[in-house]
Amino acid sequence: MAGRSDSVPAVHDTGRGDAVLFLHAYTLDASQWDHQVAALSGDFRCVRVDLWGCGGSPPPPAGAPSLAGYATSVLAVLDALEIDRCSVVGLSMGGYVAFELWRLAPQRIRALALCSTRPSADDDVRRDDRLAVAARVEREHSVESIVEPMLDRLLGPAARNEVHIADPVRGRIRRCTPDGIAFAQRAMAVRRDSGDLLERIDVPALVIAGKHDIITPVAEVHAMSGSISGARFVELDCGHLGNLEQPHAFNEALSDLLMPAGAVR
Ligand code: MLT
Repeated sequence: MAGRSDSVPAVHDTGRGDAVLFLHAYTLDASQWDHQVAALSGDFRCVRVDLWGCGGSPPPPAGAPSLAGYATSVLAVLDALEIDRCSVVGLSMGGYVAFELWRLAPQRIRALALCSTRPSADDDVRRDDRLAVAARVEREHSVESIVEPMLDRLLGPAARNEVHIADPVRGRIRRCTPDGIAFAQRAMAVRRDSGDLLERIDVPALVIAGKHDIITPVAEVHAMSGSISGARFVELDCGHLGNLEQPHAFNEALSDLLMPAGAVR
């Protein structure tokens, strides 16, 4: 079912302290961040949304799919929670949404973690592929045909063979609805190039890449970090989902970003 205009995303609000907003990847949902919330919610207010059609969220609204649409819904969530300013952690599509947040309301971002993401727009081949996936899941009224191909792309070799990581990822993909997947693909297909934003990022920044990531290769993520003044670059031994595949190392890097130097935990 598509086409609601009152699509308020499901929100998961855990812990107390300075707020940290977590934005999940395509085909996942807010539970992608469970390890981070477990580690950080003693010190921070961890806010997660399920983007439309994912996790517990309603279907996408009517109208043209766009990442700005996601970002606007997330800003409305922050308003409703009375959060003026927060740190933002975005992984892959979540990073694309973070770029849109920066475009719309940079003053609301205290620090930025960009994980396994890229600033560039799609080329024609990638765009056509996305539109084909969107049409297929709608035609099939099911996301089943994307589950195993996505799993292979999302996880590095070690995590793919670890059932405790792979099965929950399968579950998250299956929880997405066809209209949620179609909206996400169409929104990503028309996304703008965000390269021009990088030099304007003037808050503490962390960039994380996965050594075995085939969706956003390390070299591309590393190049992005070089364009953000003062950004710290961290490479983890994993695929696309560093926060699930290497949670301890991921959390250490994130804590370093979020905890002011010298802060007592
Ligand atoms: C994601 O993991 O969010 C997507 O695969 C990113 C993309 O398709 O560009």
